[in-house]
Amino acid sequence: MSDTAIATALTELVGVRTPIVQTGMGWVAGPRLVSAAANAGALGILASATMTPEQLRSAVREVKSRTGAPFGVNLRADASDAGERVRIILDEGVKVASFALAPRPELIARLKDADVVVIPSVGARRHAEKVAAWGADAVLVQGGEGGGHTGSVATTVLLPQVVDAVDIPVIAAGGFRDGRGLVAALAYGAAGIAMGTRFLLTSDSTVPDAVKARYLAAGVQDVTVTTKVDGLPHRMLRTDLVDALERSGSTASLLRALRHASAFRRDSGMSWAGMVRDGLAMKHGRELTWSQVLLAANTPMLLKAAMVEGRTDLGVMACGQVGGLIDDLPSCAELVDRIMAEAHATLGRLTTGL
Ligand SMILES: Cc1cc2nc3c(=O)[nH]c(=O)nc-3n(C[C@H](O)[C@H](O)[C@H](O)COP(=O)(O)O)c2cc1C
Repeated sequence: MSDTAIATALTELVGVRTPIVQTGMGWVAGPRLVSAAANAGALGILASATMTPEQLRSAVREVKSRTGAPFGVNLRADASDAGERVRIILDEGVKVASFALAPRPELIARLKDADVVVIPSVGARRHAEKVAAWGADAVLVQGGEGGGHTGSVATTVLLPQVVDAVDIPVIAAGGFRDGRGLVAALAYGAAGIAMGTRFLLTSDSTVPDAVKARYLAAGVQDVTVTTKVDGLPHRMLRTDLVDALERSGSTASLLRALRHASAFRRDSGMSWAGMVRDGLAMKHGRELTWSQVLLAANTPMLLKAAMVEGRTDLGVMACGQVGGLIDDLPSCAELVDRIMAEAHATLGRLTTGL
């Protein structure tokens, strides 16, 4: 490991060596990837929405057995069992709570009282302003080029807009893979970068080799956005499945969604009543129809088919546009060291004019 630390408000807040975050990706960000990222000096975040609470507790313990470095857990603030998951975070002394949607002020306060750092993810300035006013410690802002559920505003536009709007540290996500990007984000006023697709494509990620090969072979034009998986804009690799979903009618979509909702209920250990409660929470404050809520169960099951079962034909391969530029599988340690070395070289070039 080279001595290339860059101190920012993020490294100070969380106690990590580098201003780099490995984001919570469903079925991808498990104990192995998270501990490798943490040991490399980044903030690793465990994805918990696709785990039962018992699985979350044992995953947290596994990370702790593999690293003494700080790490985080990503959860859905609107999940009916969010309270139970927060209990696990508190019991196990997890350093960071990352939220896919804005957590309520009471939840933020409960975590902060226990010295847990609260970092919600947002895709719009007004959401950043809201969570900052509610007491979030930092905010992760994802531009439209990012993988998974995504907005339409590019990182280069959204990031400075959010930096200007809030007084808490802002972490930039969407489109990052190297040290030039880190320096660019810092220049915009960010406190660090968060990467999903880049960490998925490491030798430490447990994603099956056949799936990684599909990502490595993809160019920028092979990454698309569809609303056909769960009704929300979702960035992923364009595959035959995605083309078929784009063509399929609403009856076929609903039948598939019902099948997946049933499978997700089994996998997540949730009751039907719990799923309906979660569906109601999702609908609340958003313009979603019941069929869109039902379709939501499609995402975890289709993501699992690719990320766990290696089904490149049947699964969804969420991917940022940056996936089109990535063609290697470094370890997390190699990746983080490389990014920091590139960042220093870039800073040197800028200051000496070479
Ligand atoms: C395979 C995959 C799965 C993802 N799953 C989740 C998730 O479960 N929860 C979440 O908040 N974001 C999820 N995301 C979004 C990432 O956490 C992150 O914000 C995004 O990948 C950043 O953009 P990038 O891919 O350009 O680095 C996922 C992204 C990918 C690529």
